[in-house]
Amino acid sequence: MNLLAAALERWQLAPDGGATTVLQDLAARHGTPLYLYSGPLIERQVAELRAELPRDLALLYAVKANPHPAVLHRLVPWIDGCDVTSVAEIALALQAGVAGTALSVAGPGKSNAELAAAIDADALIVLESLAEARRLAALAGGGVRPRVALRINPPFTLAADARMGGGPRKFGVDSEHAPAVLAALGTLPLAFEGFHVYAGSRCLDAWALAEAQRATLRLACALAPHAPSPVRLLNLGGGLGVPCFWGEAPVALATLGDALRGLAGDAARRLPGARLALELGRYLVGEAGVYLTRVVERKVSRGIVFLIVDGGAHHHWHATGALEGRRHLHYPLAVLGAAGRAVERVSVVGPLCAPHDTWAEDIALPVAVPGDLVAVFQSGAYGASASPQGFLGKPPAAEQLIDWPATCGTELHPQDEENKHA
Ligand SMILES: Cc1ncc(COP(=O)(O)O)c(C=O)c1O
Repeated sequence: MNLLAAALERWQLAPDGGATTVLQDLAARHGTPLYLYSGPLIERQVAELRAELPRDLALLYAVKANPHPAVLHRLVPWIDGCDVTSVAEIALALQAGVAGTALSVAGPGKSNAELAAAIDADALIVLESLAEARRLAALAGGGVRPRVALRINPPFTLAADARMGGGPRKFGVDSEHAPAVLAALGTLPLAFEGFHVYAGSRCLDAWALAEAQRATLRLACALAPHAPSPVRLLNLGGGLGVPCFWGEAPVALATLGDALRGLAGDAARRLPGARLALELGRYLVGEAGVYLTRVVERKVSRGIVFLIVDGGAHHHWHATGALEGRRHLHYPLAVLGAAGRAVERVSVVGPLCAPHDTWAEDIALPVAVPGDLVAVFQSGAYGASASPQGFLGKPPAAEQLIDWPATCGTELHPQDEENKHA
């Protein structure tokens, strides 16, 4: 099934059916441009993932993917904690009901204010360097021993779109220097809990993900004898992508689940007492968001039809500006309520005075007129909060969590201990 057909099915949208009217009504009520996040789709995604994960693996949500408070609230019953990177994200997670001890604070170059907020919350602080460890110990002042994990820059990378391990990186401590750093950590008033490895993002290949996870366990086992205390946590990172472009297919979840359950068995033997964790952002929320933007004008320039819509790169950078030079790539998009109309080739562009503000070039769409709604699917992650919303002084996008499509709810339930491994 192609990506657009899968998205329409996920959102229970017939091209001109009643459900399309639901989105049209929401756009009329909240205005456009508008991000809609589906609570039931988020829950279904997490439930389906959890059903494949080893029972006691901790699932963290990477708040950076979508920090909307209503989204966080919705996720909290389904997850074991959050990966956060700033004072604001720490506060958001706490307000959403996540325990401070369930926060994992990661990111290179943490400010003293961020370290202090993490200490106050009794969060796990993922150290990215020895200098940061020393700064943290000085800030804590001896009265408390902050909980820490050491982030390792592994000698491998995840074969993914965004590589974050291997090679020279700003993230973590190079694996070859980790034994010396671990020895130094033992001299500081810090409570060491384990390791964190994050090798890449946006990977759709279950085999590559599993191989990176196995390599992470091997690395942790090699480093464990150098650690100041037994390893109680191994954060495997994450990196599961969602398909956004033509030809991409979802991660084969059953394959990954099999591999992870095998890995959990190995870890129990080789690192007894260590809990495995995954931290995922886009995989949990990416497919549960749709961005609605309205056609403002049709314009023909030298034979090319441009549909100028009211939303653009300032709201959804990854679906527009980030595609510059990638001409034939575009997120799955549809004109709502246009079934039965003739089809034409158009370019869909935003309202910014910037040529990269382009949703799609030269694609086939039903003829659209001013006032029509264009829906951009796969828009739940790295949208509103990861885009330059202040650019040109245009208003920000509205964001709403909705309880629709209601019937996509799963029988799984967060309170069911079979599904939530708290
Ligand atoms: C350390 C870390 N954890 C988690 C994430 C979340 O990644 P994703 O949203 O691709 O799952 C990122 C993304 O860059 C990251 O750097």
